[in-house]
Amino acid sequence: MTSITITRPDDWHLHLRDNEQLRSVLPHTAKQFARAIIMPNLRPPIVTTDMALTYRARIQAALSGTLHSGFKPLMTLYLTDNTLPSEIIRAKESEAVQGIKLYPAGATTNSDGGVTDITKCYAALETMEQINMPLLVHGEVTDANVDVFDKEKIFIDKILAPLIQRFPNLRIILEHITTSDAVTFVKEASKYIAATITAHHLLLNRNALFQGGIRPHHFCLPVLKREIHRQAVLNAAISGNPKFFLGTDSAPHAQGNKESNCGCAGIFTAHAAIELYATVFEQADALDKLEAFASFYGADFYQLPRNNSYITLKKEHWIVPEEFEFANEKLIPLFAGENLTWKIR
Ligand code: NCD
Ligand code: DOR
Ligand code: ZN
Ligand code: ZN
Repeated sequence: MTSITITRPDDWHLHLRDNEQLRSVLPHTAKQFARAIIMPNLRPPIVTTDMALTYRARIQAALSGTLHSGFKPLMTLYLTDNTLPSEIIRAKESEAVQGIKLYPAGATTNSDGGVTDITKCYAALETMEQINMPLLVHGEVTDANVDVFDKEKIFIDKILAPLIQRFPNLRIILEHITTSDAVTFVKEASKYIAATITAHHLLLNRNALFQGGIRPHHFCLPVLKREIHRQAVLNAAISGNPKFFLGTDSAPHAQGNKESNCGCAGIFTAHAAIELYATVFEQADALDKLEAFASFYGADFYQLPRNNSYITLKKEHWIVPEEFEFANEKLIPLFAGENLTWKIR
């Protein structure tokens, strides 16, 4: 196959940051995706609808007058111990906010204002269940005694499963799944439970963290797992099961913050997101499953219309740039300096 045309995809999990950094990274996403779910983990986090609306206005200002001004940011709120049901209702009424994001406090970048105890959120969650507002979940426990490779599985057992029992009609997206445990759980759960899958968790296993030395640009959370888990996640992605869909979790950090004695978690993939997914689907002989994974199932789960424009990917060798501008700093993309074989037109 030398070319494929698919419905324009959406990115159901994206970090755009803000201001100058936002202006640096936004065109990478907007050139390929029609819409994206924008993560709220700014400093300070986006905890109210008013904040989400002004953040959306900054994104739209950064798009205006560019080639990609049709790109649509879908906003989220950052759930806290103190999120009020009235705020959830305001978010729903705004029609700008498509989900509420649960970060267990301390789980990842800018999550210190997250939820310390899920029972504190029961009123907000009950409202979400009643008014059909999805919950987006960073599914890792924060207990320092839990092995870092087990944090997702233990979150599922200890937090997510009981949460679903309590709120059976709440729509939940378990984001950036990394384990066979998550795949099995989501498959067996009700139709209200789905998951996003990143390109990097499809392409890499944990050996990539130590390939010839320590590799900070392969560090993200949840951390890369063993090959058997990568294979399980890949099999879910190419299975044609509509519970599994695309969410890049492209997470830019300045080079200096990654290449540091305490490097930030996050892999930047927006420069080549759909090409990276095409690469891994092709390797798995499943290119015919790419369109539904990238362009249909997420929209369906979010109860939004599917896109009616298209993109074309060509079989073409190109070399990923060594770096991109990122405000006044540099951003090192995944596979910097390496060859890719698909290119969006
Ligand atoms: C940024 C980064 O790491 O470059 N982090 C972020 O937006 N979460 C900016 C910063 O470190 O202040
Ligand atoms: O690797 C990650 N980076 N995982 C997250 O959950 C957050 C993200 C970020 O914001 O940098
Ligand atoms: Zn996350
Ligand atoms: Zn994320």
